[in-house]
Amino acid sequence: MARGADRGARMPVAEFTLPELTQWGEALGARLEPPAVITLDGDLGAGKTTLAKAISTGYGVRETVTSPTFAVAHEYHAPRSSVYHLDLYRLAGPEQLANIGWEDVMASRAIVMIEWPDRAGAELPAATHSIKLAHVPGKPDLRSVSW
Ligand SMILES: Nc1ncnc2c1ncn2[C@@H]1O[C@H](COP(=O)(O)OP(=O)(O)O)[C@@H](O)[C@H]1O
Ligand SMILES: [Mg+2]
Repeated sequence: MARGADRGARMPVAEFTLPELTQWGEALGARLEPPAVITLDGDLGAGKTTLAKAISTGYGVRETVTSPTFAVAHEYHAPRSSVYHLDLYRLAGPEQLANIGWEDVMASRAIVMIEWPDRAGAELPAATHSIKLAHVPGKPDLRSVSW
């Protein structure tokens, strides 16, 4: 599971249906050890928030994890650590990270999941897991997952 060193060399894993992606995410969450930073790349609707929910559930979050469409940062509680879910889509640039408590989140030694990680620029730490989701042309029920 230690793929951090492979960052950038993503290997296609599979094309998943929604239940398959959920199951895969829950299994990943169950294996996570804090601290961990998980980046979730992919277009709108690719499944980043869906996967973040599944990872959170697998890790032990029992509160509902909602899409942080308007709030950039959400914190959830799990038995082993907090879980932060950051959606940087509306971030104009890395200089705005201070407004969302970025330094505290990164110092928390928790589980941190980041949608639109490129918005963080050079502030983005090395990811424990770097996951890329994509639509599959002609197959609206499937998403490809690379990591
Ligand atoms: N195989 C699949 N995996 C993930 N989501 C899927 C899949 N098939 C359909 N969907 C739908 O695609 C949408 C993904 O939305 P979301 O997770 O919010 O994406 P993002 O956060 O990347 O914008 C959801 O409405 C979900 O039900
Ligand atoms: Mg999303």
